[in-house]
Amino acid sequence: MGLPPQQAGTPKVRFEEVSKRFGDGPDAVQALEPITLDIAEGAFTCLLGPSGCGKSTLLNILAGFEQPTAGRVLMDGQPVRGPDPRRGVVFQQGALFTWMRVIDNVAFGPLATGKSAAEATRIASQYLEMVGLTSFARRYPYELSGGMQQRVGIARALANSPEILLMDEPFAALDAQTRELLQEEIKRIWHETRKTVLWITHSIDEALFLATEIVVMSARPGRIKAKFHPGFAQSDDPAVVASAEFARMKAEIFGLLREEALAAQHQEAQR
Ligand SMILES: Nc1ncnc2c1ncn2[C@@H]1O[C@H](COP(=O)(O)OP(=O)(O)OP(=O)(O)O)[C@@H](O)[C@H]1O
Ligand SMILES: [Mg+2]
Repeated sequence: MGLPPQQAGTPKVRFEEVSKRFGDGPDAVQALEPITLDIAEGAFTCLLGPSGCGKSTLLNILAGFEQPTAGRVLMDGQPVRGPDPRRGVVFQQGALFTWMRVIDNVAFGPLATGKSAAEATRIASQYLEMVGLTSFARRYPYELSGGMQQRVGIARALANSPEILLMDEPFAALDAQTRELLQEEIKRIWHETRKTVLWITHSIDEALFLATEIVVMSARPGRIKAKFHPGFAQSDDPAVVASAEFARMKAEIFGLLREEALAAQHQEAQR
């Protein structure tokens, strides 16, 4: 049988000439120039770019939270029309239900999609174990550290069995050590689940460590400035960051981002 011929080469996600302008008239902000980008099934794509270049806008359009001004986004060849449980979103911080225990936060999605209470709890326990929080299942979010809360957020997104995970700077609020440990954990989870991931970060190291594809964006209006295909995501060894190739790519991306950050700064000063 196999796939119908027209789907054989279909990417998991296709941004087709997607542009976005916020507002009208002289106050309008052109957030994104037409962007065309394919994301393959199972890819781990990191978006890097200066503040305000439209990274969150692009992710929110794929999530279905925002509509593009022009162009369209396809998932499995079908246009994105709004939020969909096949796309799980993890925000920068919080977004947990503060009045619910950790386990109930994670079980919420499965329950909402019609699973029995027992089944939802079983699924929630499985994902809490995956993120190493089994012993905190009965606690409330305020009893957890920031890093632990982010892990609950990831477990909660995974519990809905999304096909794509959308993560907007999920580790931005964490200290460097916790962040590195969670990066290793997310890599392990990605190796285990092979989900398609779109990940926004300001950290070049994080992108190089995790991504199969890095997309560097220009200052606003966001365009794709460069793409990289680092090979470090396939490795389990945290020491890949010490390799010469890692340092070379890091320096190259650093140079590109610095140009764009300066352009963005200049733009802000002229507003
Ligand atoms: N809802 C909105 N209404 C009006 N303007 C918006 C809205 N959302 C974003 N913008 C504007 O669009 C541009 C891109 O914003 P976006 O949040 O996508 O940037 P970003 O790359 O995610 O930045 P950061 O790295 O700081 O998170 C910014 O100039 C921002 O002010
Ligand atoms: Mg953002």
